[in-house]
Amino acid sequence: MEERWFKIKRIMLGIKGLDELFKGIYKGSIILLAGNPGTGKTTMAAKFIYEGAKMGEKGIYVSFVETKEDFYRNMKDLGMDFSSLEEEGGFAFMEGITVSSVEALSEFLEEVIREMGEFGADRIAIDSISAVLQMGSQEISKVREMMHNFFYRGAKVRGVTTILIEELPYGEVSVGYGIEEFIVDGVIILKARIIKGKIYRYMEIRKMRGNEVKYGEIPFIIIPGDAVGIIKPEGISEIPSGVYPEKSIKVRIEDKEISIPIGSQNLLIFHPMIDPLPVFTWLGLRNFSQYGYRIFCESFTHNKRTVEDRIKLCLDRGDIASGPEIKIFQINPTAYTLDEIYYLTDLEERNVKPDIAVVNGIEILQELSDPKEYLNIQYNKLLRRMNRKITGFYLIKHPLNKIEKIPLINFYDNVFIFRPYLKGGVRYIGISPYRIILNTRQRYEVFIKADTLERCEL
Ligand SMILES: Nc1ncnc2c1ncn2[C@@H]1O[C@H](COP(=O)(O)OP(=O)(O)OP(=O)(O)O)[C@@H](O)[C@H]1O
Ligand SMILES: [Mg+2]
Repeated sequence: MEERWFKIKRIMLGIKGLDELFKGIYKGSIILLAGNPGTGKTTMAAKFIYEGAKMGEKGIYVSFVETKEDFYRNMKDLGMDFSSLEEEGGFAFMEGITVSSVEALSEFLEEVIREMGEFGADRIAIDSISAVLQMGSQEISKVREMMHNFFYRGAKVRGVTTILIEELPYGEVSVGYGIEEFIVDGVIILKARIIKGKIYRYMEIRKMRGNEVKYGEIPFIIIPGDAVGIIKPEGISEIPSGVYPEKSIKVRIEDKEISIPIGSQNLLIFHPMIDPLPVFTWLGLRNFSQYGYRIFCESFTHNKRTVEDRIKLCLDRGDIASGPEIKIFQINPTAYTLDEIYYLTDLEERNVKPDIAVVNGIEILQELSDPKEYLNIQYNKLLRRMNRKITGFYLIKHPLNKIEKIPLINFYDNVFIFRPYLKGGVRYIGISPYRIILNTRQRYEVFIKADTLERCEL
């Protein structure tokens, strides 16, 4: 009866994305977290304890594999300060690394049960069941019984939500030692794969009582400052309908005006000889500044300084009193995976809350990643911005005779082409629509003097 009562309450794991995907897990559940070495088990379990404590749920981390000092130091690097948490009274670390005999284990487990009661723990992590079972390799059934006892007399009966870590040796994919399957309410397997020289992390959710398990593998990342978060696939039901009559961004080019619907995703294809940055800064500043738009600029090619200088140059040369609010996010795509970039830009966008997102250099991203991964991430990125009504401009350099090869070309709302011309010794850049969703009348090409753009003459 008592156990049932605990199970009614749902709690949040504290892992961004995962809590949105699952509507929480039952308090008092035991989740088995398995994975090969270095896949992020400790980090994820620590995050579960850490965020729990922040939400007022006291936690204990029991480690049979790491000293307290090592654990605190490693987790601090990832943005989790367990020593402060301990001082505030929300956390206790129990070091079982010196426990080596079955007798000592029995005593230690009793101590953990006692501490759970006295401390009033709501969450516990055990790192790891594999280390515990190894201790009693001669008396394995005795150790199993002790662990069973521990869960039924300790964690379950007190409604303490538990993460139980299992270490899987390399090459090992099956889970469980014959004890866990019966008692666990959820099974999560962490995996890592090397794609184009970078580590991509995935989480496989085998079972999760009380939740529908829809996704086979969910990408997740480990990153300093935010520790661990998953890449939640974007829902498509939230996307506003394809027509946005209420508002649009007006872009004037020479004497022509183009309407860009709010929340539309626009691909701007540049002939490889044209540098997209001056063109876009010139066009963008002139057109966006008057509305006071907030702009988020994601740059994979030019560094932050170059983008800033270019904007300053345009502002100095022009008659614009003040520019739009621009936040430049520069990231070196060789140092991060696509998943990490997706996650980091999401964090930034949640802070900045931009009206417009400008992405410069997606061709570099494309070249550095696996085509399937790129498609997946870019598609979700477009959906994410549509959902949030952020108008996106994606600047890409690409041979103009191979436009149809650009990934997702048919998914962008508007596609424009920028190509160079030489007329009477003067260089021009021609801008023409390749495909536009609205205003099919706007099928003209406009010419701008290349000099004007480069010198930012407004
Ligand atoms: N400061 C950091 N910044 C980014 N990534 C980090 C950082 N610290 C650790 N990592 C990543 O996290 C991974 C290790 O995570 P963790 O220790 O949680 O894995 P584990 O599954 O518990 O490993 P083990 O089997 O060795 O116990 C490392 O492979 C490393 O790539
Ligand atoms: Mg570990």
